[in-house]
Amino acid sequence: MSERVLVVGGGGREHALAWKLAQSPQVQQVLVAPGNAGTANCGKISNSEVSVSNHAILAQFCKDHHVGLVVVGPEAPLAAGMVDDLTAAGVPCFGPSAKAAQLEASKSFAKAFMERHGIPTARYGSFTDPQEACSYIRSADFPALVVKASGLAAGKGVIVARDQAEACQAVMDIMKDGAFGSAGETVVVEELLEGEEVSCLCFSDGTSVAPMPPAQDHKRLEDGDVGPNTGGMGAYCPTPQVSPELLQQIRDTVLQKTVDGMREEGTPYMGVLYAGLMLTNQGPKVLEFNCRFGDPECQVGLAVAPTSR
Ligand code: AMP
Ligand code: GLY
Repeated sequence: MSERVLVVGGGGREHALAWKLAQSPQVQQVLVAPGNAGTANCGKISNSEVSVSNHAILAQFCKDHHVGLVVVGPEAPLAAGMVDDLTAAGVPCFGPSAKAAQLEASKSFAKAFMERHGIPTARYGSFTDPQEACSYIRSADFPALVVKASGLAAGKGVIVARDQAEACQAVMDIMKDGAFGSAGETVVVEELLEGEEVSCLCFSDGTSVAPMPPAQDHKRLEDGDVGPNTGGMGAYCPTPQVSPELLQQIRDTVLQKTVDGMREEGTPYMGVLYAGLMLTNQGPKVLEFNCRFGDPECQVGLAVAPTSR
């Protein structure tokens, strides 16, 4: 294990990661790029100004400064191939490859993947043509619909529609008016699932999975959960919504199946796999995959995690 670790990102999640890594006696220093005010000069932790958008510069920096491990926080650099590029340059890096990160970066890919592997999720359609999306909406027999920009939209590209007209309007906003830019060139339309929403994350080496304690985050704005969805405004962990038996079921039917499927398809999944799940009365169903630690789930998850040796 390395003595100097570099964490990529600048949010609360990256602060939590740096804080936890700094507790290891094997870690001498944690750099955070770009970091934030909380990670500036805090014991073993300090910020770095190295460019994280230019992977060649970042790789050279890591070599020059004897960084033995890079831990990537957010999804965008993972989807942009940071792990592929740093690994190719000989810099050990924690996180999935760009191809594996498609599980988050393309909802259309994730839905088709789940369909191929029998992983429980909402019924759906995926469209690049707005008229076809609206025809699907008008013919769907689901009581309510959710419209999603397929690409990365910082947790904001999902519209829960009350009726077909609202769903079609969402399609137009996303595909014609570019509400989420190129992330909305493909849309996924799916049935609304009801139940408690939980976040089940695991570590994977590409073959096996090691689940973390399940968490719940607070998604909707306003008291009584009546406002629009957010990326998550607070979290707690572990959640009693997920019993040990249910976690075992989620491990078998979602997490392990996903890792097995990715390996079988030649895109092994290494890093943190995050399954956002709805606990429906037909069992847990996947709402989304993320290719990284959740934020804010990471902040509470690492607070209850044992300290590494
Ligand atoms: P996603 O980015 O796909 O996870 O969607 C963001 C949020 O929208 C989720 O965390 C859920 O709160 C909500 N959501 C997404 N898909 C559905 C669905 N099929 N039914 C109900 N809520 C959903
Ligand atoms: N808290 C939700 C997420 O990290 O995507």
